[in-house]
Amino acid sequence: MKPFAQPETNLLNRPFVLPNGVELPNRLAKAAMSEALGTYDNHATSKIVELYRRWAKSGIGLMFTGNVMIDRKALGEPGNIVIEDESDLPILKQWANAAREEGVSLWVQLNHPGKQSPKGLNQFNLAPSAIPFRQDMAAFFLTPREATEAEIQDIIQRFGRSAAICKKAGFGGVQIHGAHGYLISQFLSPHHNQRTDQWGGSAENRRRFVMAVYAEIRRQVGPEFPVGIKLNSADFQKGGFTEEESIVTIQSLAAAGIDLIEISGGTYEAPAMSGVVEQTKKVSSSNREAYFLSFAEKVRAQVKTPLMVTGGFRSYAGMNSALQSGALDIVGLARLLAIDPDAPKALLNGQDCNYQVRPISTGIKAIDKMGIMEILWYSRQLKRISEGGNPRPNESGLWAFLASIIKSMWGTNRTRRLRA
Ligand SMILES: Cc1cc2nc3c(=O)[nH]c(=O)nc-3n(C[C@H](O)[C@H](O)[C@H](O)COP(=O)(O)O)c2cc1C
Repeated sequence: MKPFAQPETNLLNRPFVLPNGVELPNRLAKAAMSEALGTYDNHATSKIVELYRRWAKSGIGLMFTGNVMIDRKALGEPGNIVIEDESDLPILKQWANAAREEGVSLWVQLNHPGKQSPKGLNQFNLAPSAIPFRQDMAAFFLTPREATEAEIQDIIQRFGRSAAICKKAGFGGVQIHGAHGYLISQFLSPHHNQRTDQWGGSAENRRRFVMAVYAEIRRQVGPEFPVGIKLNSADFQKGGFTEEESIVTIQSLAAAGIDLIEISGGTYEAPAMSGVVEQTKKVSSSNREAYFLSFAEKVRAQVKTPLMVTGGFRSYAGMNSALQSGALDIVGLARLLAIDPDAPKALLNGQDCNYQVRPISTGIKAIDKMGIMEILWYSRQLKRISEGGNPRPNESGLWAFLASIIKSMWGTNRTRRLRA
C-alpha cells in the first residue's frame, strides 16, 4: 500500500452534530469491544467503569460499550454484562458517568448472540433456523434450536426494555448489534435464516426482525434518545447477507429514523471484521486502510444518515484520507485502543499512535483462522487497562490463547453453577 499524503488539515478534530442535535466534539469513536469484565452472574463491575474512564480521558469523541446482552439465558461469553432489569442501576450509572464526566457520550451496544455462543454456556441456543456451524467449528458451537414466535416476540421486547434501562442509567445512546453473525445478523442471512413464516424467506421478511427491534427500542426510549446500529456490509460467507441487501436494510432503517449507522462485516465463520478474509484484501490494496470504505461510498450515495466505518484504521493520514473522501462521518477504532488507550490524544494532535496493531498468531493455522482467537488476546489487554495497568502489545499469541481458553472453561463452569 502506498503511503497516504500528509493531510493539510486534521479533519479528525472537526465536531459533528447528529440529526437529533447530539454534538460530538470530534470524529473519533471507540468501537464496541466485548470486555468480558462482568461477574460470572453477569453484573457490571468497577473494572468496567475504570476501563471507560481511561478511554474517556483520551479525548475520544464517542464511545460504544462492548456487547451487553439483553437476556441472561442467552450469553455470548462468560463475563458478559446483562441488562434485563433495573437491579444494577447504581453501577450502570457509575459506568455512564465515567464517560459523561469527561464530556464523552457512551452508547451501550445491545446484543443477543443467537447461535454464536460457545458450547455449554447457555442451556440452549436459539437462532432463526437450526443450521449447524461449519464442520471445523461444530466442536465449539452447538447447533441451535429454531426460535418460536413467542421467543421472537420476547427478544424484541427485551431489546426495548434494555434500551430503556440504559437511558435511565444516563448512557448517551444505544447501538443495536446487527453485525458479525449474531442473532440479528442471523435473521438477515439467507444461509442462517431458512424460515418459512413472516420472519424468513424473502429479503423483506428477513429484515422484519431488525426493523421490529429498532421500532420497539424507539417506542421505549422516545424520539430524542440516540439509537444506532452496527451492520454488516456483507457476511463474506457463501449464501450469506449481501451488499445489495445491506444497502436496502440501511435504507429501511434510515427511513425509520435511526441516528447512526456503523459499517462492519463478517461473522465468526468468516471474520472479515478483523480483516482476515480474501474480500477485504481487495479493499486494502486500493490504497485504503479501512476494510469497508468502498461499501461506505455506495451507502453514502443512497442515504443521508450519519455513517461510521470501523475496521482497519491505523494511521493518522489514513483516517484523514477516509474522512476527506466524504464517505463517512466517524472513524471507528477498536484494536488500536486496546493496545494504545491514549491513541486519540496523539491523533487529535496530528500525530500517529505509539503502537501499531499487528497480526496476532498462535502459530497454529486452524486456530489463527478463527476470529475468536484475536478477541481473546485483546480481551486480556482490556483487563489490564481496567485494573489500572497498561496493555502488553508484545504478548505471545499462543500463551494468551491457552490462558484464555482455561479461563473461559472455568468461567463457563462458574456461570452454569451460579445459574443452577
Ligand atoms: C476484543 C474484541 C472484542 C470485540 N467485541 C465486539 C463487540 O462486542 N461488538 C462489536 O460490534 N464488535 C466487536 N469487536 C469488533 C470491533 O468492534 C471492530 O469491528 C474490529 O475489531 C475491527 O476494527 P479495528 O480494526 O479497529 O480493530 C471486537 C473486537 C475485539 C478485538
